[in-house]
Amino acid sequence: MEPDPRMYVHGRTVREAERLAYQASGLAHILHHDTRYPAGSRVLEAACGIGAQTVILAKNSPEAEFVAVDISPESLLQAVRRAAREGCTNIMFRTADVYDLPFGPGSFDHVFVCFLLEHLPDPLFALHRLKAVLRQGGTITAIEGDHGSALFYPESPDAHRVIRCLIDIQAAMGGNSLIGRELRHLMDEAGFCSVEISPRIVYADAGHPEGREGVKNIFIAMVEGVREEALSRGMVTGPEWEKGIRDLYRTTENGGTFAYTFFKAVGVKGE
Ligand SMILES: C[S@@+](CC[C@H](N)C(=O)[O-])C[C@H]1O[C@@H](n2cnc3c(N)ncnc32)[C@H](O)[C@@H]1O
Repeated sequence: MEPDPRMYVHGRTVREAERLAYQASGLAHILHHDTRYPAGSRVLEAACGIGAQTVILAKNSPEAEFVAVDISPESLLQAVRRAAREGCTNIMFRTADVYDLPFGPGSFDHVFVCFLLEHLPDPLFALHRLKAVLRQGGTITAIEGDHGSALFYPESPDAHRVIRCLIDIQAAMGGNSLIGRELRHLMDEAGFCSVEISPRIVYADAGHPEGREGVKNIFIAMVEGVREEALSRGMVTGPEWEKGIRDLYRTTENGGTFAYTFFKAVGVKGE
């Protein structure tokens, strides 16, 4: 099944663009600190969206050359503007579908892909397509979340219910927001070698208050994004929804805790 960008679960609102930007910068120390590309290497970023990860990648490896693609021309336009604003001159943007990349075999030394596979009906096929444009010995880095990894206190069935709405709506659109735990399997199935998976945990409590803004602006904002869809599908009532969201915010107040795990995979294209 071909992906339909209009069916993107998070939508393309201004709030979602802000959430993606906040997510990339807020998680940069956790997700990007060990990703650097050598001078002169050619790197493909698949599904760059509004360019939030792209500018971090490009600044961290200023002498590498990036090609950043996305299926949405609208998001790419924002990405081009962001890169210009940030003074990045080592990125070329292009509209492309990851299932049908307009690049020859072995065109890139490295591939980076973040928060895409969770939205695709066939993530394994996407990894095969990305592998095809990678040279022998080149690396792929894939980062995904896993909404089933959200642990919090105080416990609340209502909070779990609103998270479940996002998981189920994304699944109904052909995606899988529990994909983080599957990355190992997918990377192995796609035939990558030397695969390393490292879980990256975001944690917030009174002793780690700096994480609380991230929980609100990244995770809870993402759940809030499916409110209308969840209500119109009859998955929850209005009061149940409001209570679930209120309980999620409660986990970021004093006495509350919140933890979420991202999974970062690195693999090599072997012989
Ligand atoms: C959650 S956003 C992530 C964007 C970016 N990687 C980031 O982390 O900020 C997912 C992106 O995947 C793009 N996308 C979805 N299906 C795609 C496909 N088949 N080919 C290329 N991009 C796709 C969407 O347009 C969207 O920009």
